[in-house]
Amino acid sequence: MDLLIQFLNLVAPPITFFSLCLFLPPYWTFKFFLSTISSIFCENVAGKVVHITGASSGIGEHLAYEYARRGARLALSARRETALREVADRARDYGSPDVIIMRADVSKVEDCRRLVDETVTHFGRLDHLVNNAAISLATLFEDATDITNLKPIMDTNFWGSVYTTRFALPHLKNSKGKIVVMSSADSWMPAPRRHVYCASKTALVSLFETLRVEIGSDIGITIVTPGYIESELTKGKYLTAEGKVDVDQDLRDVEVSAMPVGSASCCAKAIVNSTLRGDRYLTYPPWFRMTYVIKVLCPELLEWTFRMLYMTAPGANAKEAPSKKILDATGLKNLIYPSSIQSPEVKTE
Ligand SMILES: NC(=O)c1ccc[n+]([C@@H]2O[C@H](COP(=O)([O-])OP(=O)(O)OC[C@H]3O[C@@H](n4cnc5c(N)ncnc54)[C@H](OP(=O)(O)O)[C@@H]3O)[C@@H](O)[C@H]2O)c1
Repeated sequence: MDLLIQFLNLVAPPITFFSLCLFLPPYWTFKFFLSTISSIFCENVAGKVVHITGASSGIGEHLAYEYARRGARLALSARRETALREVADRARDYGSPDVIIMRADVSKVEDCRRLVDETVTHFGRLDHLVNNAAISLATLFEDATDITNLKPIMDTNFWGSVYTTRFALPHLKNSKGKIVVMSSADSWMPAPRRHVYCASKTALVSLFETLRVEIGSDIGITIVTPGYIESELTKGKYLTAEGKVDVDQDLRDVEVSAMPVGSASCCAKAIVNSTLRGDRYLTYPPWFRMTYVIKVLCPELLEWTFRMLYMTAPGANAKEAPSKKILDATGLKNLIYPSSIQSPEVKTE
């Protein structure tokens, strides 16, 4: 057996390389042909039923408006009811024929069951499930003295999507529907202070890629990996090491640094277009894909850059990080951050 494994160790790399040289040109041609066809015959969601979790702010809110403009019927969930009600009113103005809202905490399995049940009871079907709700953090792993304080990140970002998807699956199979998975470019970026968030987003990619294999073509799955987009998250709303939610714009400057922050409405439009085309993956803005190429080809370079830019000397304040100093020194903030994320105000209820 060991001999066979040694033989494979020797021959697998050249065989794979030459097979890929033969396989890739027709494969890419076929994929290009398929993507052209799906761009022409993309899905019409008018009258269809879409559930969006985390629709009270940010990208989820703008996804609601984007689906509404295309005439979809909407079920919107999150924990802040007043904010949801305002989003629902605007979605009706944008053209949705029917919008319901429900207060739900996706980290609780019973809330996820209820949000699917209430959607199907009201509309009689479910066509798209958008797993969008999430929270982030900006604290060093070592500073989390009680590591269990960070559990809500995995419970919300990963388990919230898993529970909701599990309950929605039979209904999505009936409608030959779609699932949108809001992962993040952080699923491949080794971003300091966002460790558990990064892990939750990588776990989502892994779970839904496996689900694609199990389910086959019955349900379309679009995995979205945004870069930096305007929202409450990029306003600096983070879970602290003490397990409380706080808005810290200085810390946000450390984390986002001199990276341009994209518009939530353009991002939502790209996500809905991509989902209706049946795309398997979307990175928005598209240039952010280059960070993935760097990660695959030279991961050490990415790790070194993150360490140099985002870390401080032991014991120093995070706000002393070079990433923030660069942002402050260049005065780029007003140019590359939209005005919507320049103030720390977030919706409260
Ligand atoms: N903005 C970016 O730069 C960026 C980049 C990559 C990926 N993403 C992803 O995009 C998605 C949307 O985030 P965003 O940037 O738009 O941030 P956001 O404005 O903070 O929106 C997050 C949404 O999730 C909801 N939420 C949080 N915890 C919840 C819970 N336990 N149960 C139910 N809903 C919950 C929030 O509503 P309530 O507080 O009312 O519950 C809110 O509606 C997330 O999956 C995020 O990871 C964002």
